[in-house]
Amino acid sequence: MRTQVVIIGAGPAGLLLGQLLCRHGIDNIILERHTGAYVLGRVRAGVIEQVTIGLLDEAGVGARMHEDGLVHDGVQICVDGVRHRISFKELTGKTVMVYGQTEITKDLMDGRAALGAPTVYAAQDVALHDIFADRPRVTYRAGGEAHEIVCDFIAGCDGFHGVSRTSVPPDTLTTHERVYPLGWLGILCDTPPVSEELIYVRHRLGFALCSMRSPRRSRYYLQCSLAEDIEAWPDERFWQELRPRLDEEARHRLVTGPSIEKSIAPLRSFVAEPMRFGRLFLAGDAAHIVPPTGAKGLNLAASDVRYLSRALIEHYAEKSDAGLAHYSERALARVWKAERFSWWMTTTLHRLSDNPFDQKLQLAELDYLFRSKAAATVFAENYVGLPY
Ligand code: APR
Ligand code: PHB
Repeated sequence: MRTQVVIIGAGPAGLLLGQLLCRHGIDNIILERHTGAYVLGRVRAGVIEQVTIGLLDEAGVGARMHEDGLVHDGVQICVDGVRHRISFKELTGKTVMVYGQTEITKDLMDGRAALGAPTVYAAQDVALHDIFADRPRVTYRAGGEAHEIVCDFIAGCDGFHGVSRTSVPPDTLTTHERVYPLGWLGILCDTPPVSEELIYVRHRLGFALCSMRSPRRSRYYLQCSLAEDIEAWPDERFWQELRPRLDEEARHRLVTGPSIEKSIAPLRSFVAEPMRFGRLFLAGDAAHIVPPTGAKGLNLAASDVRYLSRALIEHYAEKSDAGLAHYSERALARVWKAERFSWWMTTTLHRLSDNPFDQKLQLAELDYLFRSKAAATVFAENYVGLPY
């Protein structure tokens, strides 16, 4: 087989890239290790920046998001039982949208099906070849048969555990990593959210987050240890641990109910540099991970895809490789700023140590955030998404 771009991975990065390329007449094939149902079954984050919204519109898949997504003008931060609000709208003129990644993935899958673009689900043993040559190849097995695709470019959109990043010569890659000694225990619940806006909770018992998917569906998280066994967390225990971390009003408004999903996610900061190796371009979680505290993972994947799609379109339409040459540098400049913000939110809101000095610093940091318009503006600018 022959195509212009082989995209490895049908997560949000791969699907969005495929959609943007298709709309510019660039042929692409997506190879995904899992089934479509499996990909859609994963519950992930749910806050999107305006630039991500713009990109989904550009990809022609924004209609349902505009109908069902919730526009949020601000966010709340609760510190040891006292709630504060930061208004994005007042400080930056911008807002964010609460719309689940699962829904975005579904919209992208439907959009791709409508264009009749090929996706191979359950593709096994995907392997990259000749990435530094003019005609790279990708081989895989599907339906018990071996296949080979010859292409111009490969987009590695296969997430942190994918094959793309690990296929490059080790001496061409530098990785930077910080692993936090904790995870997030999350539950999804068909109950009305405790507040109209997200509440990030800093409490001496540990971090919590009250989020949502719709006016009838809530998403809650608790800081937990990495060794935690999910079986040891019946719903009742989750509510018991969440309640004392909330302020009085939220405690009063909290509606509990049976969970429809429960999972633990580790917290990690990770960056692989560069993001280009010959004709292989990494995008999204394949190149970088942020802890979920700043809600940046999906948005960073989208910003990589914006740079990469424009660079590929420029290559085919204008015969210019300037965008491809600058891809890694441009993407990484934005990635590192999101890494900084996610690290800052994580270290400021979680209970990371028993050292009273660290705890005093956190409280000073937050007090400054609530009292200084400059500090609040820095926060708001980062949360709504930095300009490209
Ligand atoms: N071959 C084919 N597909 C693969 C392989 C492989 N060897 N390895 C992984 N994949 C697929 C995974 O099954 C997954 O569907 O690549 C996809 C990668 O998707 P994501 O992990 O969702 O990553 P990405 O598209 O970069 O999205 C980033 O998603 O998980 C969040 O925090 C993340 O919000 C961020 C966003
Ligand atoms: C979520 O709703 O899943 C969510 C929201 C905000 C975050 C992380 C996760 O920072």
